[in-house]
Amino acid sequence: VNSPQVLLTFAQSIDGRIATACGESRYISRSGSLELSQELRRDNDAIMVGISTVLRDDPALTCRIASDTNPLRVVLDSSLRLPPDSQLVQSADEIPTLVYCRQEAASGSAAAALRSRKVGVEGIPAGEDGRPDLEAVLKSLAGRGINSLMVEGGAALLTAFVRGKLWHRMLVVTAPLLLGRGVEALGDIGVEALAGAFRPEVREIRIIGSEVVWDLKPGLLPGKEVQ
Ligand SMILES: NC(=O)c1ccc[n+]([C@@H]2O[C@H](COP(=O)([O-])OP(=O)(O)OC[C@H]3O[C@@H](n4cnc5c(N)ncnc54)[C@H](OP(=O)(O)O)[C@@H]3O)[C@@H](O)[C@H]2O)c1
Repeated sequence: VNSPQVLLTFAQSIDGRIATACGESRYISRSGSLELSQELRRDNDAIMVGISTVLRDDPALTCRIASDTNPLRVVLDSSLRLPPDSQLVQSADEIPTLVYCRQEAASGSAAAALRSRKVGVEGIPAGEDGRPDLEAVLKSLAGRGINSLMVEGGAALLTAFVRGKLWHRMLVVTAPLLLGRGVEALGDIGVEALAGAFRPEVREIRIIGSEVVWDLKPGLLPGKEVQ
């Protein structure tokens, strides 16, 4: 197996923003869907975020509902900007934490400092954009026995997974607020014309309070005729 099952999940405003223009995202979702995200953390072997989300929000990425094990916390961080005083590093001696960086960063002083704090650091060959190649990251996770991965954002990471068609399920929570200018849930995913849009298959639509949870799986890929 070369990849865990990949679940992409995010909470957005009705107008498709996952954060305000200044990056504030807590909490776009306010109802039972927060509980849903805790259940998903419990049910996945690993949780992944991009380094910008760590720098902006300093998340703990722990599972707050009873469970035997905490999922592995994974950060994609090309040049090891992960701050030593972040919640992730401070709790790494108790909760497994792994950072994927560019290959040359994995032998530098920042890597040594993180390893001394019990943070795993693995170098990955860079893809076209100079960042750790996602397929190689997924292969590495599979090799570590990770069968299920939940990607919690932010936008750049979600965009890279969608663009690369590297996901198996997507849960989008849409909350009834309007943000206007802000962080778009997805950036350039390679869609130009409407005919080229990704059209995920809708597995289920759940309503939790006033929020709508779209449970999607990859459907027609861009370029295919809509039946
Ligand atoms: N509403 C929600 O559900 C939700 C969830 C999470 C985050 N957010 C919000 O999203 C915002 C952050 O989003 P963001 O788009 O700025 O950042 P992000 O996706 O969290 O992190 C992006 C960074 O990750 C690193 N990275 C490493 N490998 C990558 C790869 N293969 N593909 C993409 N990125 C890679 C890059 O930095 P390097 O080049 O330095 O490696 C990149 O700039 C924050 O405002 C946060 O609050 C919202």
